[in-house]
Amino acid sequence: MSYRVGPADQLPEGEALLVEAKDSGAIEDIAVFHAEDGNFYALQDECTHEVASLSEGWIDGCEVECPLHSSSFDLRTGKVLCMPATKDARTYKVNVVDGNLELDI
Ligand code: FES
Repeated sequence: MSYRVGPADQLPEGEALLVEAKDSGAIEDIAVFHAEDGNFYALQDECTHEVASLSEGWIDGCEVECPLHSSSFDLRTGKVLCMPATKDARTYKVNVVDGNLELDI
């Protein structure tokens, strides 16, 4: 199922957006990132360690650092890069269709 997020040009490079997709049939809310490589990526918003929103984390290159205990995740793969989280984050495909971001949920 495709979920329309909004105009791609409204999400500047180096920033993230919380998509409350859970209300629309997704299994969870999703964080969409405009990484510093210019591409868009999406991960489950909730950190795999405890309850924190990755959309409120810090983006560095193609990584996001959790705002609560500083675990980092690779935006491209969801792979956890440092403790205390040990579980990878789920990834979602982001498409840009006619200038709009769409998620496969
Ligand atoms: S909640 Fe994210 S590292 Fe602890």
